[in-house]
Amino acid sequence: MRQKTINSIFKGDCLEQMRLIEEESIDLIYLDPPFFTEKKQALKNRERTKEFSFDDIWGSDKRYAAFLKERILLMYALLKETGSIFIHCDKSGEHIIRALLNQVFGANNFQSEIIWSYKRWSNSKKGLLPAHQNIYFFSKTKKFKFNPIYTAYSETTNIDQILQRRTRDEHNKSIYEVDDNGEFKHGDKKKGVPLSDVWEIPYLNPKAKERVGYPTQKPLLLLERIIELTSEKGDIVLDPFCGSGTTCVAAKLLERHFIGIDKSQEAVELSLSRLENPVKTYSNILKKGRESYVNADKETLGLLKDIKFNPVHRNKGIDAILVETYENTPVLVRVQKKNETIAEAAAVLIKAKKKKKSKKVILIQTNESGLFDEDVNYDGMIILQSPSLQIANCLSL
Ligand SMILES: C[S@@+](CC[C@H](N)C(=O)[O-])C[C@H]1O[C@@H](n2cnc3c(N)ncnc32)[C@H](O)[C@@H]1O
Repeated sequence: MRQKTINSIFKGDCLEQMRLIEEESIDLIYLDPPFFTEKKQALKNRERTKEFSFDDIWGSDKRYAAFLKERILLMYALLKETGSIFIHCDKSGEHIIRALLNQVFGANNFQSEIIWSYKRWSNSKKGLLPAHQNIYFFSKTKKFKFNPIYTAYSETTNIDQILQRRTRDEHNKSIYEVDDNGEFKHGDKKKGVPLSDVWEIPYLNPKAKERVGYPTQKPLLLLERIIELTSEKGDIVLDPFCGSGTTCVAAKLLERHFIGIDKSQEAVELSLSRLENPVKTYSNILKKGRESYVNADKETLGLLKDIKFNPVHRNKGIDAILVETYENTPVLVRVQKKNETIAEAAAVLIKAKKKKKSKKVILIQTNESGLFDEDVNYDGMIILQSPSLQIANCLSL
């Protein structure tokens, strides 16, 4: 059997290509096969000059299961005894894939069902908005590699739980350990909370630099986490349905070797170009936390509490939109910021008014700094003073 060259992308059906790989030579396999959506998946690149697509039409769940089973059997043979497999799917085929993995890897080697959860915006239709995908994690044996990842304690964690050592009482109940004087003992250095099986990683937005226009492209952050969790530097990572090459790029960035396979020539070319020049979108939500996007002035928006409104985050001009409309156009609200003159606040709100085609906007004035700009048309803008400003004005009279 010929050993596949590592750090390469191969074109062809992964069934044929994987037969060329030496058995028990792979440390980690991640695959993101067609999901059994019974649709052709297609998307255009950023410049809209090229369309990438792949078929996901099977006719029956039996055909889909037979296609995958043949390939998963081979993947099992390729993995080292310390290896693991991660199969990405969603509600369309998760039941089929879980059953196949139980058959091939054995239910006792099931490690986790990872829920990749993300925020999505969509027109409401009857039913719940799908906002997660599933990734099944099975090991080949109990000797699988695993590098724990720890996350921060949640805001609701009791400080005692972090600082104090725990033990079990005679009823096997977890209690805080005390010394001979009845004083609580400090626990060992706490690393944080072990990573859970629910991963909140943002979906690549249409403008993300990392996005190459390949349908169902996965974020590098997701693949990096899988690779870091179950492999070491120098290990070999295989993706037999590599698409735009996300797994191979993540492996390269983390100093692992990789083998990518895809039956589409365009996918192979795209993967090779991404490998030459990897571009990664860093998630500000992950770095700074979701709260960092809450830039609406909470206190002042509290003033609107008896009025129905939607707070607006991540927008330079608007802090809220009223649920009530004015002449069928949205009513936008902005709170004057501390370091901003009233003219500056008004200017950005007027800009937003134009952009959102609004006919009525409300500016909440919080300080007296600055004068209005005479050249600007403030039509349709209502300026309300915040109660603290009104009180200050009353007192200074
Ligand atoms: C869901 S996409 C993978 C997307 C990839 N994870 C990414 O981030 O870009 C599935 C890929 O499987 C490929 N494919 C479908 N059947 C295949 C087969 N039998 N052998 C190899 N590749 C196949 C398709 O061409 C498509 O690129």
